[in-house]
Amino acid sequence: MDYQFSDVINSIEPSFIREMLKLTTNKEIISFAGGLPDPQLFPYEDIKNATNSMFAKHKESLFQYSTTEGHQGLRDWIAARFSKAHDVEVSADQVMIVSGSQQALDLVGKIFINPQDTVAVESPSYLGAIQAFKMYSPKLQEVHLATDGVDIEQLQRVMASEKTKFFYGIPNFQNPTGITYSEDKRRRVADVLKASGKIMLEDDPYGGLRFPGTSDSTQSIYSLAPDNVIYMGSFSKIFVPGFRLGWVIAPTKIITNLVIAKQAADLHTNSFVQAILYEYVKTHNLDEHIDLIKTDYAKKKQYMVEAINTHMGDAIDIYPTNGGMFIWMKVHGVIASDLMPYAIKQNVVFVPGEAFSLSKGYQDHMRLNFTNLDYDQIDQGVINLKQALLAYRQDNPLEAAS
Ligand SMILES: Cc1ncc(COP(=O)(O)O)c(C=O)c1O
Repeated sequence: MDYQFSDVINSIEPSFIREMLKLTTNKEIISFAGGLPDPQLFPYEDIKNATNSMFAKHKESLFQYSTTEGHQGLRDWIAARFSKAHDVEVSADQVMIVSGSQQALDLVGKIFINPQDTVAVESPSYLGAIQAFKMYSPKLQEVHLATDGVDIEQLQRVMASEKTKFFYGIPNFQNPTGITYSEDKRRRVADVLKASGKIMLEDDPYGGLRFPGTSDSTQSIYSLAPDNVIYMGSFSKIFVPGFRLGWVIAPTKIITNLVIAKQAADLHTNSFVQAILYEYVKTHNLDEHIDLIKTDYAKKKQYMVEAINTHMGDAIDIYPTNGGMFIWMKVHGVIASDLMPYAIKQNVVFVPGEAFSLSKGYQDHMRLNFTNLDYDQIDQGVINLKQALLAYRQDNPLEAAS
């Protein structure tokens, strides 16, 4: 049967890399490619206890339809927590609960993008956001991401165009690079937004994961330009991803339209898991739990950086990062997607840099995840990667490749 799909869906090609990664379900393969939190750190017992106490308290209301904006108690709690952490006044009616922050990317696309509008994105950027925006047929404009944040002159130029609707950025421990904006860059981005009268979609799933003993600023750009920013937070990396819970903070005029778009999408986010999370945050200390995650990830990241430096030190440059879930590195004289078949043969996978680029840049870069592996797997994976690189170099000598 010849199905008559929409032009939009027909225009989106399945990613070559994702197809390749599908081949890697083999248990032997050590995957640095994913972006999964460490399941050992999910608070199973605490969630069980919170669920039981919620059942005891609220039997009748647990399974009814609920409001699109989300659980009132949870919205109050998020507003208060964010206001305190970012030294800004946010009220609960500026908060909407979403089904993972991924849904916010879609809803923002729905309410802002007309076909051929321009959306500015960091280069490189999070694939899932690009995919969400593409459903609304914008022109995506890359803005270079330097090691202290986005290139301000370039951003200014793009935001000055009438066609530009918003800038999408991840200022804290970015996916894929781990880059965090300096304080100065945060202020300058806020200035560009105010001067251009444009908005930013500030995606912050990793800001809560700053490693102990480090001091990078994670002050939200929202707090510097509250009329010009839609802030997105997520419980996926600081609690559990399977609940699919995130939140948006935005000016109420924007929330009103997001609510309309969300009603059409799913009426409301699963109210049962919202109630469990609310019970959890009321009866447990989320910050203590986040401290456990940060301490564990900091150790694993350090361990992996040392392993890479030991085995591949002369071939790579690792970008420094003090939080999040990824190592981003340049491998000299390599086309990372061509290295992939060699890596699969050695039972290890990663994501080639060009997967995060609209202009096929970063071909000699790769993203490696360190959160969902144990120390032995990290060791073995890095050794396998080195073997893959040696085999690749035999077929592609450095002089010829660079
Ligand atoms: C930058 C970024 N934004 C958004 C998401 C989506 O997260 P979730 O929908 O689980 O909140 C992810 C997931 O990895 C991400 O890396």
